[in-house]
Amino acid sequence: MDNLFRRKRIGLLKPLLSLSLVFVSFLMIHKLKLAEKDGVRQKHAGETYWCDTECLASKKGVGKNHPGSESSVLGGEPDAQRPPTGNRSSWDAQVLNCSEDASVRSRDWFQRLDQRFHQFVLYRHCRYFPMLLNHPEKCADGEVHLLMVIKSIIEQHDRREAVRKTWGKERTVDGRKITTLFLLGSPASGKDAKNLQKLIEYEDRIYGDILQWDFMDTFFNLTLKEVNFLKWFDLYCPGVRFIFKGDDDVFVNTHNLLELIDFKVEARKEADMLVGDTIFKAIPIRNRQSKYYIPRELYDKPYPPYVGGGGFLMSAHLARRLYVASEDVELYPIDDVFLGMCLEALKLAPEMHPGFRTFGITKQKVSPMNNEPCFYKQLILVHKLGAEELLRMWSVVHQEDLVCAKKTSVHDPQLAKSSH
Ligand SMILES: *[C@@H]1O[C@H](CO)[C@@H](O)[C@H](O)[C@H]1NC(C)=O
Ligand SMILES: *[C@@H]1O[C@H](CO)[C@@H](O)[C@H](O)[C@H]1NC(C)=O
Ligand SMILES: *[C@@H]1O[C@H](CO)[C@@H](O)[C@H](O)[C@H]1NC(C)=O
Repeated sequence: MDNLFRRKRIGLLKPLLSLSLVFVSFLMIHKLKLAEKDGVRQKHAGETYWCDTECLASKKGVGKNHPGSESSVLGGEPDAQRPPTGNRSSWDAQVLNCSEDASVRSRDWFQRLDQRFHQFVLYRHCRYFPMLLNHPEKCADGEVHLLMVIKSIIEQHDRREAVRKTWGKERTVDGRKITTLFLLGSPASGKDAKNLQKLIEYEDRIYGDILQWDFMDTFFNLTLKEVNFLKWFDLYCPGVRFIFKGDDDVFVNTHNLLELIDFKVEARKEADMLVGDTIFKAIPIRNRQSKYYIPRELYDKPYPPYVGGGGFLMSAHLARRLYVASEDVELYPIDDVFLGMCLEALKLAPEMHPGFRTFGITKQKVSPMNNEPCFYKQLILVHKLGAEELLRMWSVVHQEDLVCAKKTSVHDPQLAKSSH
């Protein structure tokens, strides 16, 4: 009898629970909609229902310490994310409406210029954009040995997921802290922008590792990711020592990367270090079919030495110098080349390291070498791998019983033989 009664009560509880769940989700959606109507998109719902009492308290504290400081209608970081003791200035790029530079339309080179570049040239002067998602706290407290920043677009959710589980996993290795951030723009028009934006905000609430700026995430806008990141880094990351910057479709051997850093530090060659797959004496591609096609009207010289954007390592010291130098360099539609131009302005050249394979292990896609874990074990970076390939290769390379004939050190003179 007693038993039966209990069962009945449980039977009642279940529908009650699911009913309240439905109610809560309804409230969440409603709040999201309200926030959007108010035009406070970047102050995403985190403020309204993600913030617990502790975070609300610290938020109030911050408010008091910064009287009248940017209520950040658009562009500033949500106050909740700023450490209460911090006294740093905040992201100041508030201009939402950077209008086209109509004066270039009348130039005759503009009229000759390939249509594809019109948009780029008209908006070339728009450099810094408001932030939709920011994490000023990310490298604020204490020293970060290595900051991993990864260019991604909203749709590549599975690649970010794979990176978080593999080489981009935040952790401390022998006292050296590794922190990871993804760099994103806003959805390009014509896509389901509103829903994509909601998805990325949701993902960021879970992981807290997305930096997003309010410019369209297009190929020619990748350079905006470069300059906005450099400015962001200069502002928020005083305690970072090294930066790895790369794509979301690469394999990185984090262990070898850390070893390379150690080697550079020991050799006292770390201050102005920028290492990667360096391309010397390249010339602009004039084949109109190519993704990298550059018309003569836009650029008519050989390129300075630059590193393939698939991934490279640089010191924080150099990143800060690059930020200053970049402000005097006109934006260029190919981000890797743009960075090379900034280095050139500093009278520096990137260093070649054969451990960075931004064009893959061999150029032949079907080559069995591309599936050979021992190669991945001795390299630093390999381009390019999809999310599933990355997860698979990562677990194979990290198997205890993987036996490779020879573990080549990253500073083995033979492997590190420079090509210049
Ligand atoms: C914040 O920094 C500014 C400039 O560095 C300084 O003048 C000011 O006193 C600081 N404020 C606080 C509350 O520490
Ligand atoms: C943006 O700026 C242009 C030129 O200054 C102006 O004509 C336009 O109305 C502005 N748009 C918005 C949405 O403010
Ligand atoms: C870059 O983004 C800005 C801001 O969203 C946009 O106005 C511009 O057209 C984009 N440029 C290219 C070349 O896609």
